[in-house]
Amino acid sequence: MSTTAPATRTVASIVNGKAVTDGPGGTATSRNPANTEDVVADVRLGDASTLVAACEAAREAQREWAAVPAPIRGRAIQQIGRLVEENKESLARLVTREIGKPYPESLGEVQEIVDTCDFFLGEGRRLYGQTVPSEMPDKQLFTFRVPVGVATIITAGNFPVAVPSWYLVPALLCGNAVVWKPAEYAPAIGQAMADLFLHGGLPDGVLNLVLADGPQTFAGLEEALDRKLVDKVGFTGSSAVGTRIGELCGRHLQSPCLELGGKNPLVVMDDADLDLAVEGALFSGFGTAGQRCTSLGTAIVHDAVHDEFLARLTRAVEQAPVGDPTREVLYGPMIHQRFLDRFESDALGLIRDHHTVGGSTGTGRITAQNPREGFVGDDPERGLFCHPTIVSNVKIDDEIANTETFGPIVGVARFADFDEAIALANAHGYGLSSAIYTTSPKHAFRFRERISAGMVSVNNSTSGAEAHLPFGGNGRSGNGSRQSGIWVLDQFTRWQSMNWDYAGKLQKAQMDVADVDADLSFRLPD
Ligand code: UN1
Repeated sequence: MSTTAPATRTVASIVNGKAVTDGPGGTATSRNPANTEDVVADVRLGDASTLVAACEAAREAQREWAAVPAPIRGRAIQQIGRLVEENKESLARLVTREIGKPYPESLGEVQEIVDTCDFFLGEGRRLYGQTVPSEMPDKQLFTFRVPVGVATIITAGNFPVAVPSWYLVPALLCGNAVVWKPAEYAPAIGQAMADLFLHGGLPDGVLNLVLADGPQTFAGLEEALDRKLVDKVGFTGSSAVGTRIGELCGRHLQSPCLELGGKNPLVVMDDADLDLAVEGALFSGFGTAGQRCTSLGTAIVHDAVHDEFLARLTRAVEQAPVGDPTREVLYGPMIHQRFLDRFESDALGLIRDHHTVGGSTGTGRITAQNPREGFVGDDPERGLFCHPTIVSNVKIDDEIANTETFGPIVGVARFADFDEAIALANAHGYGLSSAIYTTSPKHAFRFRERISAGMVSVNNSTSGAEAHLPFGGNGRSGNGSRQSGIWVLDQFTRWQSMNWDYAGKLQKAQMDVADVDADLSFRLPD
């Protein structure tokens, strides 16, 4: 871990191309979670009025932006992608510094913005509508994709650039103006990303950045919706907050794009390649310190291989390098003190007497008194590091089997037959990601059919989705909206249908329609 901390920056909201330096929401400090003495940024927070002002600016700018030909908007997306690529290392270093993600993963996150731009720059030359035959002569039918208007996007701290890009890039490409509220834990990253996007050629007001806390954001959103300044809300975060946002948007007859929590199962069949399954469980359970919405919740393991799987996973977790995210580690610190506190009280508090705990030389925060053997770094107490924890003998009704834990903790349950595995995999009511390890196509496809999740991996971990497949969940994981690839276009455009009659007389649908003379009494001779 470096001892000389890099400079502290001052960051603020950006409304209509200008920094809001008066900070009506007060100030905050953003710290490096791997070394809390390192102050990453002094933050001038906005408040509800900042969010409303940003929505007004977006409303003002959107019409003109929508009038820019889509291929030219695609060109702006192309420039943004190039600029992000040119700044890849420095943005990734900031991601590692502000939220503690291991550097190779931070590089991957930044790459995901580039990939998303690559995908959508071409969409500027497609955004296809259809020509549809009419049931009457001298009439043509068409469909057009129309931008929704102003999109307010609220994102989480665990994927502070990749996930925002899933919203921002298609929303902008489709001709919407955006107000983006990044996580409180990632204000410097938020400002850096907004700066890159704005330098990529977006006119003032087309992308606005609001740095504010949750309650101020919610109050601002309420007012902006009341004043009809917002047409679409995108939210990635907890199921509890997502439910409130869903209620609020519902009152305005809007369907938000909600990407919420998960309790993602990984089923290991008796015919699985166990080494592969252990590798997948290790990465998806403990990568990013379990702070992904796609992180593994419970490994559900066939009786015949349960003990062997648990022994191998325990060994792998015990030996996994944990610590300084600038070095080679499986995972670094918790994103923020709040995540650490919640992990220690809420997640570890779910362990009961009938459970068996393993995976490390302790549980909870790694300290001098509670050391992790093999910790990577000089002094764990400088950062917010936690032991990895495996909780075995998990039963279907246990709270730990039904609660998202968002930290380095994995449950292990056992099953005897496939129905039991499916019951364990679906019981919690989330439905984001899932995985099955098997060598049988029958098991793989049966699992796909019966799992409630929006995403299914076969012989791959629950996390690490590619950037151009539909991403999203069901039940407690979301309202069925999907991000990424062509599927997200339905979030940021509405279909408009058009009919054009050039018959010179009123032709009535369903009435003035030619019939087909058929002899329906005809039968084939026996
Ligand atoms: C999230 O945690 O909100 O599939 C998204 C994955 C990542 C995205 C996670 N590409 O794990």
